[in-house]
Amino acid sequence: MLRIGLVGCGAIATSIVNAQLKGIINSKVVALYDRHMEKAEKLGELVGAQVCHSIEELVSKDLDLVIECASIQAVEEVATKALENRKDVVIMSVGAFKDLNLYRKLYNLAKRYSRRIYIPSGAIAGIDGIKAASLGEIYEVTLITVKPVEGLRDALEKLGIDVDSISEPTTVFEGNFSEAIEKFPQNINVSLVLYLASNFPTKVKIVADPKISVNRHEVIVRGSTATIRTTVENIPLKENPKTSALAAYSLIRLIKDLSEPVVIGT
Ligand SMILES: NC(=O)c1ccc[n+]([C@@H]2O[C@H](COP(=O)([O-])OP(=O)(O)OC[C@H]3O[C@@H](n4cnc5c(N)ncnc54)[C@H](O)[C@@H]3O)[C@@H](O)[C@H]2O)c1
Repeated sequence: MLRIGLVGCGAIATSIVNAQLKGIINSKVVALYDRHMEKAEKLGELVGAQVCHSIEELVSKDLDLVIECASIQAVEEVATKALENRKDVVIMSVGAFKDLNLYRKLYNLAKRYSRRIYIPSGAIAGIDGIKAASLGEIYEVTLITVKPVEGLRDALEKLGIDVDSISEPTTVFEGNFSEAIEKFPQNINVSLVLYLASNFPTKVKIVADPKISVNRHEVIVRGSTATIRTTVENIPLKENPKTSALAAYSLIRLIKDLSEPVVIGT
């Protein structure tokens, strides 16, 4: 049974705790930390886990896996301290790796301590096939994201786009992934997972749709081994509508796979 420490006790952490309570995972959350203590206390009570007062305290516990599900700002500290304490770590706030130097630093740290960093697929499908295809030649990686106008409001207003005048599906961005990350930080996680899995500069198109109620991610990869197309229409989590339920489930699946005798998919 994996012993898990959670950093960040919001929507994703709640999904993990619920998965444990429902017996979906045969692992145990034993320690939690959140900068808002009351959030850690609330989840801790549900599973009898110890509430920690700092990241240092959490990573010093007897754990098999530390899960960062807090924020981009937490990633460097959580991952560094977990790896230095010889713990494997899951990173959910993968947007932190827009800083590729941070990615390389943590990669080297994991190597030095013979530990692993896990980055779940999140709210997209096809990462297994894309990882396999990336060992051949890749010619194109494209992400087409269609979101409700409201979900893009903050980013669009910052770009000076008149949000209220959008009455039909409108392409609001087309360009490379690093520019997309600058202009649409809400899209960071998906485009970075794609980039890291394919190791190919990902093209991004973002469409604001006043009629859609889900976040739709379409991925197109063309390579020497296959052409891969996947489309996911994401249902948001109740606890945080910005987070897709599939992102939380991809993490729950990863936790489950880590203690299964057979692992299906790459
Ligand atoms: N990889 C993916 O596909 C994917 C998908 C959805 C969300 N995410 C990311 O996962 C993270 C968690 O998502 P969520 O929906 O659970 O968010 P949430 O806002 O519901 O919960 C985050 C929790 O972390 C705590 N927190 C934030 N910064 C912290 C810090 N530095 N130290 C300790 N606690 C801290 C907050 O108080 C909050 O309780 C976010 O960064 C989000 O962007 C990733």
